[in-house]
Amino acid sequence: MDVFVIEGGRKLSGSLRVNGSKNAALPLLAATLLTDQPVTLRDVPELSDIRNMLRLLGELGVEVERDGTSVKLQAVDETEVHARYDIVRTMRASICVLGPVLARRGSARVSMPGGCAIGQRPVDLHLRGLEALGATIELDGGDIIARVPKSGRLIGDTVFLGGPFGSTVLGTANVMSAATLAQGTTVIECAACEPEIVDLADMLNAMGAKISGAGSPRVTIEGVESLGGVDHTIIPDRIEAGTYMCAAAATGSTIELTNCPLDAMMSAVDRLEAVGVHIDPTDHPRGVTPDQPLRRTCTISAPDQLRPVQITTQPHPGFPTDLQAQFMAMMCLASGNSVITEKIFPERFLHVAELVRMGAQVHRHGTTAVISGVNGLTGAPVMASDLRASACLVIAGMAAQGTTIVNRVYHIDRGYEKLEERLSSIGASITRMTEDQLSEQGLASTGG
Ligand code: UD1
Repeated sequence: MDVFVIEGGRKLSGSLRVNGSKNAALPLLAATLLTDQPVTLRDVPELSDIRNMLRLLGELGVEVERDGTSVKLQAVDETEVHARYDIVRTMRASICVLGPVLARRGSARVSMPGGCAIGQRPVDLHLRGLEALGATIELDGGDIIARVPKSGRLIGDTVFLGGPFGSTVLGTANVMSAATLAQGTTVIECAACEPEIVDLADMLNAMGAKISGAGSPRVTIEGVESLGGVDHTIIPDRIEAGTYMCAAAATGSTIELTNCPLDAMMSAVDRLEAVGVHIDPTDHPRGVTPDQPLRRTCTISAPDQLRPVQITTQPHPGFPTDLQAQFMAMMCLASGNSVITEKIFPERFLHVAELVRMGAQVHRHGTTAVISGVNGLTGAPVMASDLRASACLVIAGMAAQGTTIVNRVYHIDRGYEKLEERLSSIGASITRMTEDQLSEQGLASTGG
């Protein structure tokens, strides 16, 4: 397994282009199963989650041709309907294929995703939504088996997708995708409003779907007989952008981001500004509406001293749970007590114990963490437990004095393309090593 060796205490300076969004790309890739026509996706990031999705699509009869960040896909064999456990267990987002396969091929068998490090992650809302469209659902041998009604097509209806933690992003993607080919009109109430849902609706509409209201809690989908091909460029990754902003803030640096989806990041920008960080778009003067609000160029400048803040994670446009851990790393260095309340994934605090190993003062009480700012962090061997927790530890390592070794960076490779190279290109010192190389250098990978 690879590790990152981080020499902390370096300032960053320079420019990074934000890559295409992983969380937009996964349901967009799955949506290619809705047509037998060619689909081209552009700005597809080079990530292990994307590779897994392409492998799954290959097993489902889709021909995949990758050329840099462009991927051409075409479903050439539409007989296979089984998404097997050995792929699904590597990536929960495999559940995205359920709606498209069911709607287009009449039945789908998708292994039930298990829990993960950030807690129990049910799919009951996905299933409830598809059942409302007339699908029959049963469980067999750990697989979800879904079938369309006898008429051969799903049937549009009103579907409520709210659960105890608000709506569901991939559940909305699944039901919205399936409903494009249903007979009649589907209304999703309490739909997820995330920008990734808007991107999916934009692509589906360009393929011939009739979706309105995406980005609001009520999405209306008029079913059509079939969908055609498309050439679509994926929106930039707001979580990657937010991670770089936190890295700049925690290291007292000024950096530039291009292709930055600022318009989709207002809650994160609001909290960063409360911390004292300046975020200045440099492509248009203030007051001028940009023609591409999701592709801005901006400068991120850290203040001399970070101020403490309160953050509560919420569904979009609230503060994203996927940036909670990275913000916590930054807030460890603020001048006072910050409070984070996690309202999407109540157990998503595995990074706390690792930050404490680096000298942070964080106390968790249920779904709330109180972070008492310290003057500095110290490098330590730490263990990454999930994708965003790993990014948090990389930020902490860059801000700390001394050497930090982040273990299990395969989590990072799921969602950040060449993170060590990109951050090193703007001044960080992050080296990827195998565990063997690490011991050859006389460095220990674990603390205990
Ligand atoms: C997506 C993102 C993930 C992000 C999350 C919340 C992708 C590939 N992943 O995951 O990075 O952290 O949104 O913004 O886009 N829930 C239910 N029943 C369901 C489905 C969800 O109770 O059927 C609950 C979940 O346990 C969680 C909340 O609803 O508490 C939100 O989860 P959801 O929006 O579904 O997350 P994902 O779409 O899986």
